[in-house]
Amino acid sequence: MALLNTNLKPVDGFSRLTKEKQIEYLSSLFDNPARVRRLIELFSLQDSEFQKRFDEFSENTVASYPLPFGIAPNFNINGSLYHLPMVIEESSVVAAAANAAKFWLPRGGFHTRVISTIKKGQVHFLSDANPDQLLQYEAELENFLQTRLKPLTGRMENRGGGIRKIRIVPGLDKITHYYQLDADFETVDSMGANFINSCLEEMATGLNEFYAHRLPGIRVEVIMSILSNYVPECLVEARLEAPINLLAGIHPEISPQDFARRFALAIEIARQNVSRAVTHNKGIMNGVDAIVLATGNDFRAVEAGVHAYAARDGHYRSLTQIDLSEGIFNYSLTLPLSLGTVGGLTGLHPMAAFALELLGNPSAQELMQIAAAAGLANNFSAVRALTTWGIQKGHMMMHLSNILNTLAASETEKVLAREHFNGHKVSYSAVEIFLKKLRNAGV
Ligand code: MEV
Repeated sequence: MALLNTNLKPVDGFSRLTKEKQIEYLSSLFDNPARVRRLIELFSLQDSEFQKRFDEFSENTVASYPLPFGIAPNFNINGSLYHLPMVIEESSVVAAAANAAKFWLPRGGFHTRVISTIKKGQVHFLSDANPDQLLQYEAELENFLQTRLKPLTGRMENRGGGIRKIRIVPGLDKITHYYQLDADFETVDSMGANFINSCLEEMATGLNEFYAHRLPGIRVEVIMSILSNYVPECLVEARLEAPINLLAGIHPEISPQDFARRFALAIEIARQNVSRAVTHNKGIMNGVDAIVLATGNDFRAVEAGVHAYAARDGHYRSLTQIDLSEGIFNYSLTLPLSLGTVGGLTGLHPMAAFALELLGNPSAQELMQIAAAAGLANNFSAVRALTTWGIQKGHMMMHLSNILNTLAASETEKVLAREHFNGHKVSYSAVEIFLKKLRNAGV
């Protein structure tokens, strides 16, 4: 199947077409329109009610795009057992998470805690007033805005949230006349993006009115009002802790002490070296994102915030810390996570709702801890493999199914291949040769 003409012409009013017309137009671009229609039909939900709901999540939806929804069982988190729902396409992630969960189950499991839950947003504005002129009214402005925003914040306040602090931050050293109205929010169980943005836009109007009264003739020009996905005050920690000698058996030829030493060195390398830090953190995000996606949360917001946090001291570093003092393996992950368990897609996407049910309908704070535990689990498995038998053994074994499917292996061929590659190194060409031999032998 190929595009008929790679020089596409602009299409007018695509979003105003009915879904059928959109599909008709898309199909007409291809040399095999019937195949496009079949593909779209195949990836549209059987239940038209649900598909309609999906269509309305976003504009111009023509089909659904499934990803594997897997379970990493047996996570002991603060003494409670969880089976984690993970949505991820990468073959080895669920297996790696499950493996770490199993390893730590009899060793105390994951210890997690929420450090803070404040989210932030800013009204960015210009003013030709000097900082003292604006700042003398800071407390009064905060009261004025808190009162003005009551109609927006009332419900959130009833749930224990609301606006916690509003301050004026001069930014004149960066941009001439530049200031921020910087606001702290508590959004309880919702991720809170819409709540925060609505509050900020109302604050922007209030800001103009307030200073027009207090400092008539002084310019206050709002440039934009938006939440920040940088949430260094919405932090969670996950920790693994056990006497080093309890790590015995990880590798037949490596003592637990030597394992811990090599592991700690790998963590120090990831702290100091950007190339390694990015990959180390990617391994953490394998687990975190899979939970974030499964529960209908915004993974782009999480990703942006986490990586900015990793560079908070001006140097991109790993998000984990290790301490081996007094014979204890003490390994922890600290990361900013802004998640919700109400609102957004959490109740509308049936699989997200199911994922949350499987987790016992957690609060947002509990979900932060579960996601952090998943991140640490994936990272522990990765660094354990990297510092012992190497990553490719497990990775390629999990990837074997994808190679077999790419090479159109039959079910019998798959069974034989899995048996064979249990004791042999997996690579694309090794599988290709193996299948060729089978096929030549008429198996
Ligand atoms: C692969 O998805 C993730 C790893 O590269 C993480 C790491 O290197 O720590 C294995």
